[in-house]
Amino acid sequence: MNATIAPSLLSADFARIAEQIAAVEAAGAQWLHLDVMDGRFVPNITWGPKIIGDLRKLTALTFDAHLMIVEPERYVDDFRAVGCDRITFHLEATNHAQRLLAHVRAIGAKVGVALCPQTPIAMLADIIDDCDLVLVMSVNPGFGGQSFIPRSFEKLRELRALVAARNPACTIEVDGGVHEGNARAVAEAGAQVLVMGSAIFGDHDPAAAVRRTRALLA
Ligand code: DX5
Ligand code: ZN
Repeated sequence: MNATIAPSLLSADFARIAEQIAAVEAAGAQWLHLDVMDGRFVPNITWGPKIIGDLRKLTALTFDAHLMIVEPERYVDDFRAVGCDRITFHLEATNHAQRLLAHVRAIGAKVGVALCPQTPIAMLADIIDDCDLVLVMSVNPGFGGQSFIPRSFEKLRELRALVAARNPACTIEVDGGVHEGNARAVAEAGAQVLVMGSAIFGDHDPAAAVRRTRALLA
């Protein structure tokens, strides 16, 4: 199965951030998921390019930026400039997703589009060819520690079929409410990258949580 684990720093302890990143990296996480929130697209605020640029000095992990911000087109260049390898924006946050997908590729990042729980997979029909990644939100974005919305299983299966038919190179990522109890089922439904926040950084030993999850997915 071999799904990729992307620990989400949203649930990390920023007073010990270097240590926490090193721990999940040593335990075999491949990506680091960076949730950017603006208090407008979602009712919470996190960090911007300055913080991400500082974190970039700490690790070689793939930086997987998840932009939960309105008008993402205004900021993608800044996130690319500080070293985001992957930039995912919300389909609901821009009127011109196709143009933004092309632009992010042009500035040298892999590009993803994220869907909130209310947005059907069918909305991807005319842009799936332009996506390197699709992120299925399995909770309403904004906070860690919420419960996985069961309908997301069906969405992942639907997306897997669309990707197989139209763009097999496109990566399927899932975000929200993933933990050791459902990780395998989520991967079996089609998710190739599992974002996990509270399940990893809420554990007293984040490295052990990564190792246990990797074993579950092997
Ligand atoms: C929520 C964020 C997630 C968050 C997931 O809006 O996009 O990445 O960190 O947290 P958990 O894994 O705790 O649901
Ligand atoms: Zn996220």
